[in-house]
Amino acid sequence: MPSYAAFLGHQPHISIAELSASIRDFELQRVLGSEVVIFGSTLDLDATYLQTLGGTVAIARKAHDKPVTLEDVPGLLRGEVKGVAGKVTFSLRGFGLPPKQIRDLYRTCKNELRSHGRPARYVGTERTPAVSVLLHDEGLLDGSHGCELVLIKEGDDLWVGRTVAAQDVNAYAKRDMEKPARDTRVGLLPPKLAQILLNFGAWLVHGTVGGNAEKELTVFDPFCGTGVVPIEAMLRGWNVLASDDSLKAVHACERNLQWLRKEHGIPKKEVTSKVWKQDARKPFELKAPPDVIVTETTLGPPLEKKAPLKEASRLKTAMEDLQEEFLRNVAATLPGVSVVATWPVWYTSKGQVRLEKVWDKLHDMGFRVAIPAAVDLEITGRPTLVYRRPGQYVGREIVMLQSTRKAS
Ligand SMILES: C[S@@+](CC[C@H](N)C(=O)[O-])C[C@H]1O[C@@H](n2cnc3c(N)ncnc32)[C@H](O)[C@@H]1O
Repeated sequence: MPSYAAFLGHQPHISIAELSASIRDFELQRVLGSEVVIFGSTLDLDATYLQTLGGTVAIARKAHDKPVTLEDVPGLLRGEVKGVAGKVTFSLRGFGLPPKQIRDLYRTCKNELRSHGRPARYVGTERTPAVSVLLHDEGLLDGSHGCELVLIKEGDDLWVGRTVAAQDVNAYAKRDMEKPARDTRVGLLPPKLAQILLNFGAWLVHGTVGGNAEKELTVFDPFCGTGVVPIEAMLRGWNVLASDDSLKAVHACERNLQWLRKEHGIPKKEVTSKVWKQDARKPFELKAPPDVIVTETTLGPPLEKKAPLKEASRLKTAMEDLQEEFLRNVAATLPGVSVVATWPVWYTSKGQVRLEKVWDKLHDMGFRVAIPAAVDLEITGRPTLVYRRPGQYVGREIVMLQSTRKAS
């Protein structure tokens, strides 16, 4: 089975869960530090596939069958750039190798290529590998001008792979910052997290979707705000339903989807969308049910510092009712529809405060909690994932709820 290395985002446990949910035959082999996982898959994972992942920064595919040492690297590189015409550009991304070794190695690689009549240029430094924009722009991912080799040293073993995909950071920044309607109070869901939630949604519907061979979905976000989840769904070619009880949010989401259609040339005939005003606790009256609900529910007020326990308990009590009413409404008016939602988690000086009442009622309401196979449950103590950036005092608990009700 081909071996891959994935360089993870800053919430590695969530990144691993996402890989596990979205690669059909994902076989977790090793987790190295908090940055890298080595895994097996028979799928051909490429740049198009990586674009659908929010939690993985880069993917490399193993480039050798037999065990190798550092002395073999220049020869491997020469083999990888055989098809490049003219000057070769290359980069090395090391893990577990000191900077000096990387520096010596790229010099040796350059000499090796030159001695075979191939002028060569190295991008990146011995300390930092080339940034992903450079990998895209310099033709190192599509192989037109060269390649990046990933070198992972574990004890005496060396894993060498070729980077096949790297996240397009400019594209994320563009749609995050340039969308016309922004609301810094509610619109702070990072696009990458929205992608992750959508991948969990697809997993609830289809089981593992598997590389690029995924089916189209209709996704409903009933707390849509400015529409980050709908935006990411639409970019995926999935149909979108979105609602919010604030008219301002409805207008913002509509504007953003219109902008996206224009920017990316997404015709209404191919990808449908509908946005309306609705309290998520009131019956949903849809012509046809969605495949799945994916939503960042309301997190309550943002906090500048740790909340006193009493305050967190008050916020929690108010939130329990809303979440319960929403889920009861889904079970009653959209039976059979599964839900991926984020719930607030408050950070107090006495530790985390999470929703409990609604958690205890999930079974009775018609939901079974699901979690992708590779998740280490010790992290949260219950089968959920917590997303929290440094300095945030309200985190997001990701809950995946499989409907146990029969669809109508
Ligand atoms: C955290 S924000 C969602 C932000 C969104 N992910 C975005 O991309 O901007 C939560 C949203 O829930 C909406 N909301 C709060 N209570 C609601 C309810 N009972 N029914 C529907 N929407 C509600 C708020 O108006 C707000 O837009």
